[in-house]
Amino acid sequence: MTAQGAGVPPSVNDLSSFWMPFTANRQFKAAPRMLVGAQGVHYTTDDGRQVLDGTAGLWCCNAGHGHPAIVQAIQAQAAELDYAPAFQMGHPKAFALANRLAGMLPGDLDHVFFTNSGSESADTALKIALAYHRMRGEGSRTRLIGRERGYHGVNFGGISVGGITNNRRFFGTLLTGVDHLPHTHRPEKNAFSRGQPAHGAELADDLERLVALHGAETIAAVIVEPMAGSTGVLMPPKGYLERLRALCDRHGILLIFDEVITGFGRLGSSFACEHFGVLPDIVTTAKGLTSGTVPMGAVVTRKGIYDAFMSGPETAIELFHGYTYSAHPLACAAALATLDVYQSEDLFGRCAALAPYWEERVHGLKGKPHVIDLRNMGLIAGIELEPRPAKPTERAFEAFLKCYEAGLMIRTTGDIIALSPPLTIDREHIDTIFDTLATVLDILD
Ligand SMILES: Cc1ncc(COP(=O)(O)O)c(C=O)c1O
Repeated sequence: MTAQGAGVPPSVNDLSSFWMPFTANRQFKAAPRMLVGAQGVHYTTDDGRQVLDGTAGLWCCNAGHGHPAIVQAIQAQAAELDYAPAFQMGHPKAFALANRLAGMLPGDLDHVFFTNSGSESADTALKIALAYHRMRGEGSRTRLIGRERGYHGVNFGGISVGGITNNRRFFGTLLTGVDHLPHTHRPEKNAFSRGQPAHGAELADDLERLVALHGAETIAAVIVEPMAGSTGVLMPPKGYLERLRALCDRHGILLIFDEVITGFGRLGSSFACEHFGVLPDIVTTAKGLTSGTVPMGAVVTRKGIYDAFMSGPETAIELFHGYTYSAHPLACAAALATLDVYQSEDLFGRCAALAPYWEERVHGLKGKPHVIDLRNMGLIAGIELEPRPAKPTERAFEAFLKCYEAGLMIRTTGDIIALSPPLTIDREHIDTIFDTLATVLDILD
């Protein structure tokens, strides 16, 4: 190590210092895939190629890239008010955005706490759930229930309730007092389902087993993704979310929906809770809130939860939680402009209108080599491939590389290809996605 400034200035082509997240660093650095621009539904690579964005970045750029209204709002905000603390201070756009978000969510989901990411939203929601019970004199409710294959980001709370093995196994004992429901992937019964699969509602009943084991009076909250994205796009079986809601009600347990992917139009409605008609107590969001332009997340709670905190002395801080960048002015400006774009361009309606065509094209891949399941809803799809013997993930990753060479960005998780394009996509782009995938699947070993 050298003192700052004492070393030789690194070359811009030196890739060694950046420890890349969720990446095979050595493999990437040996053959980098560099993006240098983005406009509409395309990325530009450093060798000047256009790559169709089949994943909205990381499930976040729902309004497409470089939208002039969003760009302009961020630029203007940087010049007008670059930063303002949200602890004991405020700025108008934070309140305007909270009101706007509250207005988009169903029922009495009407109080908004700002974070900077999905991971922070998950941990914030879990902390609010624990503190809520304590505020109401039910301090014994300290257990948190997640689900196998769940993804709630990478902070300690999120990985503790999460259920993706590699995200947990390297990091010690995690939070205590956590248990998991079974995941809902039942390909033996549900393979090639369109939309919600028919089988598996009864998997929610496992919550009764956990209640019998631990006692309801020890359980604070259940957190699930209403549609599990990162694990490889698993739709909730018909009736499953309703059953989970009823069981949580029966036992006084808060229900948290992690809508970091499903929020902001991905399924053709504002949020999954609206889409499925099931009202959770807390919703976590991020990603599409600013269409990925500025990091921001938000946790939305039902009125009764906020009110429970408002009972002590008015001079006392009610929730000992927050981030330096909660409600950052640039993020608020980006989010307000993004919500305007969603509304003025009716992008959620556009998603719903394109969904049947999307579904046809997804299921048109049935019978292609290696395809063992196809799943879809709104503008999202999971294409599950048979893993190579003793070499899990290799086949899908090779598909990812071949698609990239062919001008299409997809995402893979395990041996599942996940698609989630910007909601600004049109039919021709959808054709390009599935024609490219069909060609790649045909040539894949
Ligand atoms: C459901 C869900 N929760 C939380 C997260 C974490 O979000 P972030 O990467 O912004 O921390 C993600 C990211 O994909 C997600 O899909």
